[in-house]
Amino acid sequence: WFKSLVLVVGVGLLVSACGSGGQQSSGTGASGSGSSSGADEKVYVVGTDAAYPPFQMLEADKISGHDIDVMNAIAEAGGFKIEWKNTGWDPLFDGLDKGTVDIGISSITITDKRKEKYDFSEPYFEANQLILVAEDSPVTKLADLKGMKIGVQAATTGEEVVKKAFGDTYQGLMGYDDMPSSVDDFFNGRVDAVVGDNGVLQYYVKKIQDKKFKLIKDDSFEKEYYGIMVKKGNTDALNKVNEGLKKIKENGKLQEIYNQYFGTN
Ligand code: ARG
Repeated sequence: WFKSLVLVVGVGLLVSACGSGGQQSSGTGASGSGSSSGADEKVYVVGTDAAYPPFQMLEADKISGHDIDVMNAIAEAGGFKIEWKNTGWDPLFDGLDKGTVDIGISSITITDKRKEKYDFSEPYFEANQLILVAEDSPVTKLADLKGMKIGVQAATTGEEVVKKAFGDTYQGLMGYDDMPSSVDDFFNGRVDAVVGDNGVLQYYVKKIQDKKFKLIKDDSFEKEYYGIMVKKGNTDALNKVNEGLKKIKENGKLQEIYNQYFGTN
């Protein structure tokens, strides 16, 4: 008799020098759902901007976070293989356009504008914008930021709300390639406020406790829903994602992941 050799193929994380200061990362992708797959089974490339804690981040050179766990769980439940690529934010969209990335998960808000070029999964997370200011700041609402320097991550919904309030060419608008840079500049005093997703700003507030600042929600901030994005018309990838997502919503896995990252807030 012979012993069958079981090869566990860890899908290496593609190293990307884009964005986020060119950090390198390595790790393993989801391992599929135990199907005895042939070597030619499609591996879906999942792009993310791993500089958005606690949704996607690099810890000890390993990509991790809420969205990473969600996507790995979706792939497992949906029975398909993925490999991770830390693209950065803008290049994630380019990668989908060019076909070097199949699936994008990166706390991406489902918007009508993005829907013109991309298709979204069912939502997997609810979010909203918040304003980060110094604790002694007189700011109580978005309009109060007029004339101030406001940091945002460029090409995000945070930038959108600022443009909507103060115009597309507002002088004080400072767009950063990634979220941590905008928060750094806030702590360095280069911007007066940061507008961004609640989960991320709350993460920084919790983490950096010696700084004195506060978070403000403006009445105009609408509910946002994160979706997983594919190039428009890529129904193959989208169906697989939605199938897996449905399963992890039903079996409680999505909630479990949520609790792990946000349950103790
Ligand atoms: N939710 C916001 C948007 O879709 C910000 C997402 C930024 N994500 C990231 N990984 N930097 O515009």
